[in-house]
Amino acid sequence: MSDLLARHRAVIPNWVALYYDEPIEIARGSGRRVWDADGNGYLDFFAGILTNMLGYDVPEVRAALTEQIERGVMHTSTLYLIRSQVELAEQIAELSGIPDAKVFFTTSGTEANELALMLATGARRSNQVLALRNSYHGRSFSAVGITGIRSWSASSLSPVQVHYVHGGYRYRSPFKGLSDADYTAACVADLRDVIETATSGDVACLIAEPIQGVGGFAVPPDGFFAAMKEVLDQYGILLISDEVQTGWGRTGEHFWGIGAHGVVPDVMTFAKGLGNGLSIGGVVARRELMDGLPANSISTFGGNPLSTAAARATLRYALEHDLQANALKVGARLLSGLRDLAARHPAIGDVRGKGLMAAVELVTPGTDTPDTAATGRLMEETRRGGLLVGKGGRFGNVLRIAPPLTLTEAEVDEGLTILGTALDTLPS
Ligand SMILES: Cc1ncc(COP(=O)(O)O)c(C=O)c1O
Repeated sequence: MSDLLARHRAVIPNWVALYYDEPIEIARGSGRRVWDADGNGYLDFFAGILTNMLGYDVPEVRAALTEQIERGVMHTSTLYLIRSQVELAEQIAELSGIPDAKVFFTTSGTEANELALMLATGARRSNQVLALRNSYHGRSFSAVGITGIRSWSASSLSPVQVHYVHGGYRYRSPFKGLSDADYTAACVADLRDVIETATSGDVACLIAEPIQGVGGFAVPPDGFFAAMKEVLDQYGILLISDEVQTGWGRTGEHFWGIGAHGVVPDVMTFAKGLGNGLSIGGVVARRELMDGLPANSISTFGGNPLSTAAARATLRYALEHDLQANALKVGARLLSGLRDLAARHPAIGDVRGKGLMAAVELVTPGTDTPDTAATGRLMEETRRGGLLVGKGGRFGNVLRIAPPLTLTEAEVDEGLTILGTALDTLPS
Protein backbone atom coordinates (compact mmCIF):
# COMPACT_ATOMS: atom_id res chain seq x y z
CA MET A 1 0.00 0.00 0.00
CA SER A 2 2.75 2.47 0.93
CA ASP A 3 4.33 1.64 -2.43
CA LEU A 4 1.09 2.52 -4.25
CA LEU A 5 0.78 5.68 -2.16
CA ALA A 6 4.30 6.74 -3.11
CA ARG A 7 3.57 6.05 -6.78
CA HIS A 8 0.28 7.97 -6.49
CA ARG A 9 2.09 10.95 -4.99
CA ALA A 10 4.71 10.83 -7.73
CA VAL A 11 2.28 11.02 -10.66
CA ILE A 12 -1.09 12.33 -9.42
CA PRO A 13 -1.42 16.11 -8.79
CA ASN A 14 -0.99 17.11 -5.17
CA TRP A 15 -4.37 18.90 -5.21
CA VAL A 16 -6.10 15.52 -5.48
CA ALA A 17 -6.65 14.87 -1.78
CA LEU A 18 -6.74 11.40 -0.27
CA TYR A 19 -8.63 10.47 2.90
CA TYR A 20 -6.82 8.99 5.93
CA ASP A 21 -3.23 8.99 7.18
CA GLU A 22 -2.85 5.66 5.41
CA PRO A 23 -5.13 5.93 2.35
CA ILE A 24 -7.33 2.99 1.41
CA GLU A 25 -7.40 1.17 -1.90
CA ILE A 26 -10.93 -0.21 -2.23
CA ALA A 27 -10.55 -3.55 -3.91
CA ARG A 28 -13.96 -5.23 -3.63
CA GLY A 29 -17.54 -4.33 -2.86
CA SER A 30 -20.92 -5.91 -2.24
CA GLY A 31 -24.12 -4.27 -1.04
CA ARG A 32 -23.14 -1.46 1.30
CA ARG A 33 -19.76 -2.99 2.15
CA VAL A 34 -16.30 -2.68 0.68
CA TRP A 35 -12.99 -4.39 1.35
CA ASP A 36 -9.58 -2.83 1.00
CA ALA A 37 -6.59 -4.40 -0.68
CA ASP A 38 -5.46 -5.82 2.68
CA GLY A 39 -8.82 -7.54 3.17
CA ASN A 40 -10.23 -5.17 5.82
CA GLY A 41 -14.00 -4.71 5.51
CA TYR A 42 -15.93 -1.43 5.89
CA LEU A 43 -19.53 -0.38 5.96
CA ASP A 44 -19.64 2.37 3.36
CA PHE A 45 -21.52 5.50 4.44
CA PHE A 46 -20.09 7.72 1.69
CA ALA A 47 -20.68 5.58 -1.42
CA GLY A 48 -17.87 7.03 -3.53
CA ILE A 49 -19.20 10.54 -2.83
CA LEU A 50 -22.93 9.68 -3.14
CA THR A 51 -22.30 7.93 -6.45
CA ASN A 52 -22.74 4.23 -5.71
CA MET A 53 -26.37 5.03 -5.17
CA LEU A 54 -27.57 1.42 -5.09
CA GLY A 55 -24.40 0.07 -3.46
CA TYR A 56 -21.87 -2.36 -4.90
CA ASP A 57 -22.14 -5.32 -7.22
CA VAL A 58 -25.82 -4.85 -8.02
CA PRO A 59 -26.94 -7.75 -10.28
CA GLU A 60 -29.45 -5.62 -12.22
CA VAL A 61 -26.81 -3.03 -13.15
CA ARG A 62 -24.25 -5.72 -13.93
CA ALA A 63 -26.76 -7.47 -16.22
CA ALA A 64 -27.52 -4.26 -18.12
CA LEU A 65 -23.82 -3.56 -18.60
CA THR A 66 -23.04 -7.13 -19.61
CA GLU A 67 -25.84 -7.13 -22.15
CA GLN A 68 -24.51 -3.94 -23.75
CA ILE A 69 -20.91 -5.16 -23.71
CA GLU A 70 -21.93 -8.47 -25.27
CA ARG A 71 -23.42 -6.58 -28.19
CA GLY A 72 -19.88 -5.43 -28.88
CA VAL A 73 -20.71 -1.70 -28.81
CA MET A 74 -19.62 0.49 -25.94
CA HIS A 75 -19.46 3.71 -27.88
CA THR A 76 -21.04 5.10 -31.01
CA SER A 77 -20.99 8.90 -30.48
CA THR A 78 -24.09 11.05 -30.63
CA LEU A 79 -23.80 11.15 -34.43
CA TYR A 80 -25.95 8.03 -34.33
CA LEU A 81 -29.19 7.20 -32.60
CA ILE A 82 -28.73 5.67 -29.14
CA ARG A 83 -31.88 3.92 -27.97
CA SER A 84 -30.98 3.77 -24.27
CA GLN A 85 -30.07 7.48 -24.35
CA VAL A 86 -33.41 8.48 -25.83
CA GLU A 87 -35.29 6.29 -23.35
CA LEU A 88 -33.34 7.71 -20.43
CA ALA A 89 -33.92 11.28 -21.63
CA GLU A 90 -37.65 10.63 -21.94
CA GLN A 91 -37.73 9.29 -18.40
CA ILE A 92 -35.70 12.12 -16.87
CA ALA A 93 -37.67 14.77 -18.76
CA GLU A 94 -40.84 13.38 -17.25
CA LEU A 95 -39.40 12.95 -13.75
CA SER A 96 -38.05 16.51 -13.82
CA GLY A 97 -41.47 18.15 -13.60
CA ILE A 98 -40.15 20.79 -16.01
CA PRO A 99 -42.79 21.29 -18.70
CA ASP A 100 -41.81 20.35 -22.24
CA ALA A 101 -38.29 19.46 -21.15
CA LYS A 102 -35.27 18.30 -23.12
CA VAL A 103 -32.20 16.52 -21.76
CA PHE A 104 -28.52 16.65 -22.70
CA PHE A 105 -26.12 14.07 -21.27
CA THR A 106 -22.57 14.76 -20.16
CA THR A 107 -19.93 12.72 -18.41
CA SER A 108 -19.90 14.69 -15.16
CA GLY A 109 -21.68 17.17 -12.94
CA THR A 110 -19.13 19.84 -13.78
CA GLU A 111 -19.80 19.54 -17.47
CA ALA A 112 -23.54 19.64 -16.79
CA ASN A 113 -23.17 22.91 -14.88
CA GLU A 114 -21.04 24.31 -17.71
CA LEU A 115 -23.92 23.76 -20.11
CA ALA A 116 -26.47 25.15 -17.67
CA LEU A 117 -24.41 28.34 -17.40
CA MET A 118 -24.03 28.55 -21.15
CA LEU A 119 -27.78 28.13 -21.70
CA ALA A 120 -28.73 30.72 -19.08
CA THR A 121 -26.12 33.31 -20.01
CA GLY A 122 -26.91 32.84 -23.70
CA ALA A 123 -30.64 33.16 -23.22
CA ARG A 124 -30.27 36.28 -21.09
CA ARG A 125 -27.32 37.74 -23.05
CA SER A 126 -25.61 38.41 -19.73
CA ASN A 127 -22.59 36.87 -18.03
CA GLN A 128 -23.79 37.86 -14.57
CA VAL A 129 -24.53 34.92 -12.33
CA LEU A 130 -25.70 34.63 -8.76
CA ALA A 131 -24.54 31.75 -6.57
CA LEU A 132 -24.82 30.90 -2.90
CA ARG A 133 -22.01 31.35 -0.44
CA ASN A 134 -20.55 27.97 0.61
CA SER A 135 -21.50 26.45 -2.75
CA TYR A 136 -19.69 23.81 -4.81
CA HIS A 137 -20.47 23.30 -8.49
CA GLY A 138 -17.47 21.47 -9.93
CA ARG A 139 -13.89 21.80 -11.04
CA SER A 140 -13.89 23.51 -14.45
CA PHE A 141 -13.04 27.14 -15.17
CA SER A 142 -16.66 28.32 -14.98
CA ALA A 143 -17.60 25.95 -12.18
CA VAL A 144 -14.87 27.18 -9.82
CA GLY A 145 -16.03 30.69 -10.67
CA ILE A 146 -19.40 29.97 -9.05
CA THR A 147 -18.00 27.90 -6.18
CA GLY A 148 -18.26 29.78 -2.91
CA ILE A 149 -15.74 27.81 -0.87
CA ARG A 150 -12.26 29.17 -1.33
CA SER A 151 -10.51 25.85 -0.74
CA TRP A 152 -12.35 24.40 -3.76
CA SER A 153 -12.09 27.41 -6.04
CA ALA A 154 -8.69 27.35 -7.68
CA SER A 155 -9.01 30.54 -9.70
CA SER A 156 -10.66 33.92 -9.36
CA LEU A 157 -10.41 34.45 -13.10
CA SER A 158 -13.72 33.54 -14.63
CA PRO A 159 -15.85 33.70 -17.77
CA VAL A 160 -18.81 34.70 -15.57
CA GLN A 161 -19.22 37.62 -13.23
CA VAL A 162 -20.51 36.13 -10.01
CA HIS A 163 -22.15 37.62 -6.96
CA TYR A 164 -22.73 35.48 -3.91
CA VAL A 165 -25.91 35.67 -1.90
CA HIS A 166 -26.81 34.20 1.47
CA GLY A 167 -28.40 30.80 1.43
CA GLY A 168 -28.14 27.30 2.77
CA TYR A 169 -25.51 27.38 5.48
CA ARG A 170 -27.56 28.47 8.40
CA TYR A 171 -25.31 27.29 11.23
CA ARG A 172 -22.69 29.96 10.47
CA SER A 173 -24.97 32.56 8.93
CA PRO A 174 -25.34 36.07 10.34
CA PHE A 175 -29.07 35.21 10.31
CA LYS A 176 -28.46 32.05 12.35
CA GLY A 177 -30.76 32.75 15.29
CA LEU A 178 -33.81 33.60 13.21
CA SER A 179 -36.94 31.51 12.71
CA ASP A 180 -37.33 29.68 9.40
CA ALA A 181 -39.60 32.42 8.03
CA ASP A 182 -37.35 35.26 9.20
CA TYR A 183 -34.22 33.50 7.97
CA THR A 184 -35.76 33.11 4.52
CA ALA A 185 -36.95 36.74 4.55
CA ALA A 186 -33.46 37.94 5.47
CA CYS A 187 -31.88 35.96 2.62
CA VAL A 188 -34.52 37.17 0.16
CA ALA A 189 -33.82 40.77 1.21
CA ASP A 190 -30.10 40.13 0.70
CA LEU A 191 -30.81 38.69 -2.76
CA ARG A 192 -32.82 41.74 -3.75
CA ASP A 193 -30.14 44.03 -2.37
CA VAL A 194 -27.36 42.28 -4.29
CA ILE A 195 -29.35 42.42 -7.53
CA GLU A 196 -30.15 46.11 -7.00
CA THR A 197 -26.70 47.24 -5.89
CA ALA A 198 -24.03 44.89 -7.23
CA THR A 199 -25.36 43.92 -10.65
CA SER A 200 -26.51 45.82 -13.70
CA GLY A 201 -29.94 44.26 -13.27
CA ASP A 202 -29.87 41.88 -16.20
CA VAL A 203 -28.55 38.87 -14.29
CA ALA A 204 -28.67 35.55 -16.17
CA CYS A 205 -29.38 33.09 -13.40
CA LEU A 206 -29.11 31.97 -9.83
CA ILE A 207 -27.49 28.56 -9.48
CA ALA A 208 -28.01 26.74 -6.20
CA GLU A 209 -27.67 23.36 -4.57
CA PRO A 210 -30.93 22.67 -2.71
CA ILE A 211 -28.75 21.10 -0.01
CA GLN A 212 -25.13 22.16 -0.22
CA GLY A 213 -23.02 19.04 -0.63
CA VAL A 214 -19.31 19.80 -0.33
CA GLY A 215 -20.36 22.73 1.85
CA GLY A 216 -21.34 20.24 4.57
CA PHE A 217 -24.93 19.25 3.77
CA ALA A 218 -26.23 22.70 4.65
CA VAL A 219 -30.02 22.76 4.46
CA PRO A 220 -32.08 25.95 4.03
CA PRO A 221 -35.66 26.02 5.37
CA ASP A 222 -38.31 24.33 3.21
CA GLY A 223 -39.85 26.83 0.81
CA PHE A 224 -36.67 28.92 0.78
CA PHE A 225 -36.15 28.73 -2.99
CA ALA A 226 -39.78 29.52 -3.75
CA ALA A 227 -39.33 32.80 -1.88
CA MET A 228 -36.05 33.46 -3.70
CA LYS A 229 -37.70 32.67 -7.05
CA GLU A 230 -40.37 35.31 -6.49
CA VAL A 231 -37.61 37.91 -6.59
CA LEU A 232 -35.81 36.21 -9.48
CA ASP A 233 -39.04 36.23 -11.50
CA GLN A 234 -39.40 39.97 -11.05
CA TYR A 235 -36.10 40.40 -12.86
CA GLY A 236 -36.46 37.52 -15.37
CA ILE A 237 -33.54 35.73 -13.71
CA LEU A 238 -33.46 31.97 -14.34
CA LEU A 239 -33.18 29.41 -11.55
CA ILE A 240 -30.76 26.50 -11.97
CA SER A 241 -31.03 23.73 -9.41
CA ASP A 242 -27.81 21.75 -9.10
CA GLU A 243 -29.17 18.31 -8.19
CA VAL A 244 -25.85 16.52 -8.53
CA GLN A 245 -25.98 15.41 -4.89
CA THR A 246 -29.67 15.82 -4.06
CA GLY A 247 -31.32 14.03 -6.98
CA TRP A 248 -32.93 10.59 -7.38
CA GLY A 249 -34.76 10.48 -4.03
CA ARG A 250 -31.78 10.80 -1.71
CA THR A 251 -33.44 13.48 0.40
CA GLY A 252 -36.32 11.09 1.15
CA GLU A 253 -39.13 13.60 1.12
CA HIS A 254 -38.81 14.40 -2.57
CA PHE A 255 -37.30 12.99 -5.73
CA TRP A 256 -35.31 16.20 -6.34
CA GLY A 257 -33.87 18.39 -3.61
CA ILE A 258 -35.71 21.39 -5.02
CA GLY A 259 -38.98 19.54 -4.33
CA ALA A 260 -38.80 20.71 -0.71
CA HIS A 261 -39.36 24.24 -1.94
CA GLY A 262 -42.51 23.81 -3.99
CA VAL A 263 -40.96 25.39 -7.03
CA VAL A 264 -40.00 24.14 -10.49
CA PRO A 265 -36.63 25.47 -11.64
CA ASP A 266 -35.88 26.48 -15.23
CA VAL A 267 -32.92 24.13 -15.41
CA MET A 268 -31.68 21.17 -13.38
CA THR A 269 -28.27 19.53 -13.51
CA PHE A 270 -27.58 15.99 -12.35
CA ALA A 271 -24.80 13.38 -12.19
CA LYS A 272 -23.27 11.20 -9.43
CA GLY A 273 -25.77 8.47 -8.48
CA LEU A 274 -27.51 8.09 -11.83
CA GLY A 275 -25.08 5.54 -13.30
CA ASN A 276 -24.29 3.82 -9.98
CA GLY A 277 -20.63 4.40 -10.77
CA LEU A 278 -20.73 4.77 -14.54
CA SER A 279 -19.79 8.22 -15.73
CA ILE A 280 -22.95 10.15 -16.54
CA GLY A 281 -24.35 13.61 -15.85
CA GLY A 282 -26.68 15.91 -17.64
CA VAL A 283 -28.94 18.91 -17.92
CA VAL A 284 -32.71 19.01 -18.13
CA ALA A 285 -34.30 22.28 -19.20
CA ARG A 286 -37.31 23.79 -20.88
CA ARG A 287 -37.28 23.12 -24.62
CA GLU A 288 -36.77 26.72 -25.73
CA LEU A 289 -33.85 27.17 -23.35
CA MET A 290 -32.16 23.93 -24.38
CA ASP A 291 -32.74 24.47 -28.07
CA GLY A 292 -31.52 28.07 -27.77
CA LEU A 293 -27.85 27.21 -28.15
CA PRO A 294 -26.90 28.95 -31.41
CA ALA A 295 -24.23 26.46 -32.54
CA ASN A 296 -23.56 22.74 -32.73
CA SER A 297 -22.42 21.11 -29.51
CA ILE A 298 -21.33 17.59 -28.71
CA SER A 299 -20.06 15.55 -25.80
CA THR A 300 -18.17 12.65 -27.30
CA PHE A 301 -18.75 10.33 -24.36
CA GLY A 302 -21.88 11.95 -22.91
CA GLY A 303 -24.85 9.60 -22.86
CA ASN A 304 -22.93 6.70 -24.43
CA PRO A 305 -24.63 3.30 -24.71
CA LEU A 306 -22.82 1.82 -21.73
CA SER A 307 -23.42 4.62 -19.23
CA THR A 308 -27.03 5.07 -20.32
CA ALA A 309 -27.63 1.31 -20.00
CA ALA A 310 -26.28 1.47 -16.44
CA ALA A 311 -28.34 4.59 -15.73
CA ARG A 312 -31.53 3.00 -17.07
CA ALA A 313 -30.98 -0.03 -14.84
CA THR A 314 -30.10 2.13 -11.82
CA LEU A 315 -33.11 4.38 -12.20
CA ARG A 316 -35.41 1.40 -12.77
CA TYR A 317 -34.08 -0.23 -9.59
CA ALA A 318 -34.45 2.98 -7.57
CA LEU A 319 -38.03 3.51 -8.72
CA GLU A 320 -39.17 -0.12 -8.51
CA HIS A 321 -37.76 -0.50 -5.01
CA ASP A 322 -38.96 2.96 -3.98
CA LEU A 323 -35.55 3.89 -2.62
CA GLN A 324 -36.83 7.40 -1.97
CA ALA A 325 -39.16 5.91 0.66
CA ASN A 326 -36.26 3.88 2.05
CA ALA A 327 -34.14 7.02 2.25
CA LEU A 328 -36.93 8.70 4.18
CA LYS A 329 -37.38 5.79 6.59
CA VAL A 330 -33.78 4.79 7.33
CA GLY A 331 -32.68 8.42 7.01
CA ALA A 332 -35.03 9.37 9.86
CA ARG A 333 -33.49 6.62 11.97
CA LEU A 334 -30.00 7.82 11.08
CA LEU A 335 -30.74 11.48 11.87
CA SER A 336 -32.42 10.58 15.12
CA GLY A 337 -29.43 8.41 16.11
CA LEU A 338 -27.06 11.25 15.25
CA ARG A 339 -29.11 13.67 17.36
CA ASP A 340 -28.85 11.20 20.26
CA LEU A 341 -25.09 11.18 19.81
CA ALA A 342 -25.08 15.00 19.72
CA ALA A 343 -26.92 15.09 23.05
CA ARG A 344 -24.10 13.03 24.61
CA HIS A 345 -21.10 14.56 22.84
CA PRO A 346 -20.43 18.29 23.24
CA ALA A 347 -18.02 18.14 20.29
CA ILE A 348 -21.07 17.95 18.01
CA GLY A 349 -22.24 21.49 17.30
CA ASP A 350 -24.89 20.67 14.73
CA VAL A 351 -26.65 17.71 13.17
CA ARG A 352 -28.58 18.39 9.98
CA GLY A 353 -29.75 16.79 6.78
CA LYS A 354 -32.62 15.15 5.00
CA GLY A 355 -33.08 11.52 4.08
CA LEU A 356 -29.75 9.85 3.49
CA MET A 357 -27.79 13.08 3.45
CA ALA A 358 -26.75 13.69 7.04
CA ALA A 359 -24.07 15.95 8.49
CA VAL A 360 -22.37 16.19 11.86
CA GLU A 361 -20.54 19.47 12.42
CA LEU A 362 -17.68 19.26 14.94
CA VAL A 363 -16.81 22.17 17.20
CA THR A 364 -14.69 22.88 20.23
CA PRO A 365 -17.04 21.88 23.08
CA GLY A 366 -19.03 24.78 24.45
CA THR A 367 -18.31 27.00 21.45
CA ASP A 368 -19.10 27.06 17.76
CA THR A 369 -15.42 27.16 16.82
CA PRO A 370 -14.86 24.63 14.02
CA ASP A 371 -12.76 21.68 15.17
CA THR A 372 -10.99 20.43 12.08
CA ALA A 373 -8.49 18.36 14.08
CA ALA A 374 -11.24 16.45 15.90
CA THR A 375 -12.89 15.79 12.55
CA GLY A 376 -9.67 14.33 11.19
CA ARG A 377 -9.35 12.16 14.28
CA LEU A 378 -12.93 10.95 13.91
CA MET A 379 -12.24 10.02 10.31
CA GLU A 380 -9.35 7.84 11.48
CA GLU A 381 -11.34 6.31 14.35
CA THR A 382 -14.39 5.48 12.23
CA ARG A 383 -12.13 3.88 9.66
CA ARG A 384 -10.47 1.86 12.42
CA GLY A 385 -13.96 0.77 13.52
CA GLY A 386 -14.88 -0.32 9.97
CA LEU A 387 -16.97 2.62 8.78
CA LEU A 388 -16.30 4.96 5.86
CA VAL A 389 -17.77 8.46 6.11
CA GLY A 390 -17.05 11.66 4.21
CA LYS A 391 -15.72 15.02 5.28
CA GLY A 392 -16.69 18.49 4.14
CA GLY A 393 -17.68 21.99 5.11
CA ARG A 394 -15.85 25.23 4.71
CA PHE A 395 -13.53 24.39 7.60
CA GLY A 396 -13.28 20.66 6.91
CA ASN A 397 -15.08 20.08 10.23
CA VAL A 398 -18.21 18.32 9.02
CA LEU A 399 -18.69 14.58 8.77
CA ARG A 400 -20.81 13.80 5.73
CA ILE A 401 -22.89 10.66 5.82
CA ALA A 402 -24.47 9.63 2.51
CA PRO A 403 -24.74 5.86 2.20
CA PRO A 404 -26.26 3.96 -0.72
CA LEU A 405 -30.04 4.42 -0.81
CA THR A 406 -30.46 0.68 -0.25
CA LEU A 407 -29.17 1.02 3.32
CA THR A 408 -30.96 -1.12 5.93
CA GLU A 409 -32.00 -0.17 9.46
CA ALA A 410 -29.56 -2.74 10.87
CA GLU A 411 -26.76 -1.05 8.94
CA VAL A 412 -27.83 2.36 10.28
CA ASP A 413 -27.52 1.00 13.81
CA GLU A 414 -24.17 -0.61 13.06
CA GLY A 415 -22.80 2.64 11.64
CA LEU A 416 -24.11 4.68 14.56
CA THR A 417 -22.46 2.31 17.04
CA ILE A 418 -19.10 2.67 15.27
CA LEU A 419 -19.48 6.45 15.14
CA GLY A 420 -20.45 6.56 18.83
CA THR A 421 -17.34 4.56 19.77
CA ALA A 422 -15.21 6.89 17.67
CA LEU A 423 -16.74 9.95 19.34
CA ASP A 424 -15.90 8.46 22.76
CA THR A 425 -12.20 8.80 21.89
CA LEU A 426 -12.50 12.61 21.67
CA PRO A 427 -11.73 14.63 24.80
CA SER A 428 -15.00 15.97 26.25
C1 LIG B 1 -23.39 19.88 -6.16
C2 LIG B 1 -22.32 19.45 -7.10
N1 LIG B 1 -22.30 19.96 -8.33
C3 LIG B 1 -21.37 19.59 -9.22
C4 LIG B 1 -20.39 18.69 -8.89
C5 LIG B 1 -19.36 18.31 -9.89
O1 LIG B 1 -19.59 17.01 -10.34
P1 LIG B 1 -18.40 16.18 -10.99
O2 LIG B 1 -17.41 15.92 -9.91
O3 LIG B 1 -19.09 14.94 -11.51
O4 LIG B 1 -17.85 16.99 -12.09
C6 LIG B 1 -20.37 18.13 -7.62
C7 LIG B 1 -19.32 17.15 -7.23
O5 LIG B 1 -19.12 16.84 -6.08
C8 LIG B 1 -21.36 18.53 -6.69
O6 LIG B 1 -21.38 18.05 -5.45
